[in-house]
Parts: sequence; C-alpha cells; structure tokens
Amino acid sequence: MRIGLFDSGIGGLTLLECALRYLPEEEYFFYADSDHVPYGEKKKEEILQYSENAVQFLIQQGCDVIVIACNTATSVAAARLREKYDLPIIGIEPAVKPAVEHSNHKRVLVMATETTVREKKLKELVDRVDEEHLVDMIAMPGFVKYAERGEFENENIVDYIRSQLKGKRISDYSEVVLGCTHFNHFAKQIKEVFGADCEILDGSEGTIRNLVRIVQEKQLPSHGKCEITYFQSGRRVTDSKTLAFYEKVLNRLKK
Ligand code: DGL
Repeated sequence: MRIGLFDSGIGGLTLLECALRYLPEEEYFFYADSDHVPYGEKKKEEILQYSENAVQFLIQQGCDVIVIACNTATSVAAARLREKYDLPIIGIEPAVKPAVEHSNHKRVLVMATETTVREKKLKELVDRVDEEHLVDMIAMPGFVKYAERGEFENENIVDYIRSQLKGKRISDYSEVVLGCTHFNHFAKQIKEVFGADCEILDGSEGTIRNLVRIVQEKQLPSHGKCEITYFQSGRRVTDSKTLAFYEKVLNRLKK
C-alpha cells in the first residue's frame, strides 16, 4: 500500500518515524508544505486550502490512506477533508486524555501552535476529559522555527521554554503534552526544564495505531519493502542535501 503523510514541515517526520516502526515495509509519500510553514500563524481558510492541496496531491500520487501529520491541520481541516474525499484520512490529536489520567491530580500543560490553542477542537477535547480543571495550554511557536532551521540543539532553547512559561510554576506540572508534531524534536530540552519526573506525551503512537487498524480493516496489501519519497509543497525532493537532512532528522527521532 501507499501511505501519504503531510505536515507544514519536518514535524511530520515524528509520525513517519513511528509509522516505520509499525509498518516497516510500505511505500511512504511524505509531503512537507515548506512553502507555507508555519501553519500555526496562518488564517484558518489558508490552512484549509493548504491541507486540501496536500491531500489532492497525495491522492493523485495514488495514496491509499493519508495521515495528517500535523495537529494544526487536523484541528482546522480534518472534518472538511473527510467529508470531501473517500479515502481514509487519519488525524493526530494531542494526548490530553492519557495525560489527565496519568497526572494524579497534578497539572497538565498542553503545548501547541497558536492556531491549535485557539481552535475549538482542542478546547472541546479538554472540556471532555478535564473534569478537575487541571489542564493549561500554551503556544510555543518558536519551536517550529528552531526545527525548520534544523537547530535542534540551539543553546537558547531552554531559555525560550522558560520565557514562555512566565507566570506558571513549573513544579505544578506532572505531564506535558506535545500538541504539535514539531515539538517532539525538543523533548530533551522540555525534560530538562520540567525535570525527570515529568512525563512527556504525544499523539503519535495513538495515531499510527489507528493507521494500522484501518490498514488491517481495509486489507490493504503490503508493499513488501520500505520506500520513502519526499515532497516539498508538491515538488519531489531530489537534491541530496535536503534528502540527507530528512534522513538525519528521522534518525534522531528513533527511539
Ligand atoms: N507541525 C504542525 C502541528 O503539528 C504545525 C506547525 C506549524 O507549521 O506551525 O501543529
């Protein structure tokens, strides 16, 4: 089978890495919308249009199933895309429910893009699961910029996290939810700020388990070997420097 994944940029590699662990012998088409990253700072209508362009492109490439490897695009566009297209479209959601369940009455911090924090999809999810009002949300747009520049070890990242947390007591939190796929690249620095006892959760495993379930239900045949083709906003990536960068980022994410 041919699996399409799309994100505004390299955050989606978090889901590709996870998918490769569960379904290692498939053909993957990875679409990074590098012309329009960051989505988190765009208008809703723009994100809808970019997401539609990505899905249409992946359908034209013959994808059997599509993973929206982006929380922002999921919160804005997933429902509309599912109405419009016939193939299975799987979205990613912040792992708020397990975080609340694990928190043992301590606080939960959801980090996401500005759009995701503003959108009603996340608010509705929090309202459903946060009976004790333990959940706070903050936007961390700087992470997307560091990630897109490939600055995963920039020495200012820890200070950036602390500055975004102004007014919050770090020791109140037992769980941090990564509600944007770009943020996984900074799990190490988040851990450094919140301490080893704080649990960091993201929605990748749940999303990919959903993909596996759908693939099995639909009985989509295995490709028999692993192949990954990368696209940037609809253009196939062929230059060796960018391909090497993607491979490097993918390898960094390996657990
Ligand atoms: N990686 C995306 C997400 O999961 C969006 C980041 C951005 O482009 O702002 O929300």
